[in-house]
Amino acid sequence: MEEMLSSREMIKVMVDDHQLIAKTINLLRLAFEDSPNEDQIKDIARLISSLRENLIRHFKVEEDYGLLQELAFEAPHIKCNVKDLCDEHRDMVDGINQICRCFQEVVGGEVSMVSKCRDDFVDFVTRLQNHENRENDLILEVYNYDMGGRG
Ligand SMILES: [Fe+2]
Ligand SMILES: [Fe+2]
Repeated sequence: MEEMLSSREMIKVMVDDHQLIAKTINLLRLAFEDSPNEDQIKDIARLISSLRENLIRHFKVEEDYGLLQELAFEAPHIKCNVKDLCDEHRDMVDGINQICRCFQEVVGGEVSMVSKCRDDFVDFVTRLQNHENRENDLILEVYNYDMGGRG
């Protein structure tokens, strides 16, 4: 991504992405409330696949637009936290890829796998939410304290 964004613009992109991701997760939670039928399973598979695309783009924005690196530059004491967050992106892409594959099998007829897919999805969402919370805390910490609110 060649285009450079200001810190405020980067934060806006991140916050918008967080909202879009949260919205997709809520739709998925609702879809899982009852035992989904064949059509609903196809809808779930589509939602999971769009969640995967949104997440991959989101992680790329966080890393390529340099916000996480900027945070580490402004506040060197959080370098380790930034590295951990970037490592977690890799793990979460692996996780969502696995869940997508699981749903493809369900769509392909392995209906008995739906509860495993749902459990994996619930675990994944917990991991993702922990990640996003720590990321938001780190951004707030750096912008409020280390950078004195400028940006
Ligand atoms: Fe992240
Ligand atoms: Fe994030």
